[in-house]
Amino acid sequence: MERESKVLTEKEEIVRKGYDLMAGDYHDQRNIFRNKKELEEFTSLLPRNANVLDLGCGAGVPVTKVLVESGLSVTGVDFSESMLNLATKNVPEAKFIKKNMTELDFKDNSFNGLTACYSIIHVPREKHVPLFQTFHRILKPNGILLISMGSTGWEGTEEFHGTQMFWSHYDPEKTLQILTDAGFEILFDKIIADVGEKHYWILAKNRK
Ligand SMILES: C[S@@+](CC[C@H](N)C(=O)[O-])C[C@H]1O[C@@H](n2cnc3c(N)ncnc32)[C@H](O)[C@@H]1O
Repeated sequence: MERESKVLTEKEEIVRKGYDLMAGDYHDQRNIFRNKKELEEFTSLLPRNANVLDLGCGAGVPVTKVLVESGLSVTGVDFSESMLNLATKNVPEAKFIKKNMTELDFKDNSFNGLTACYSIIHVPREKHVPLFQTFHRILKPNGILLISMGSTGWEGTEEFHGTQMFWSHYDPEKTLQILTDAGFEILFDKIIADVGEKHYWILAKNRK
């Protein structure tokens, strides 16, 4: 596993520390997979032997594992060491990097696809515009993006798996606008009730 240590903001530190503390518990409860259909739609649009970045990959199940089983070359990124330790065991075929997803320094046009499932909801929303601009930069032309975002505009901290956790999201209209402005064509956007809550899922194609 590659590691990088950069200073996190106070909000990011709440998230990283929270997932470090709850990794085992989160992993034990992440056995229900309700987004098979969306993931299949994502993989169906990728070329053979495509490479995919899974941002906020957590413990690697089910998403990173399903991507690997679909024949894709997968790089998982997360800033929680405990989550990445589980991911390395769960999906030994994938490459994992310990990194803040807001500090991605991959070369332009590096990936055919990018997923971020239930992870950007923890990224401070003032960083969403530069984050989407980076996705546009590092994805190849016509690269495919699958992300789940907040179904309402909200920012705050709450108890989650016995520890403090921070969430931050714009409402779907604003999310759609900043994604379109960053250069993405929307293939679908829908609110799905999953893992006990509603999330806003978007499948998009990179236009450049
Ligand atoms: C709710 S979990 C989702 C994990 C996995 N994608 C899944 O579907 O089970 C959110 C993950 O995103 C990671 N994460 C949140 N913010 C991040 C950031 N700025 N950079 C890297 N990882 C981040 C957390 O450490 C955590 O592992």
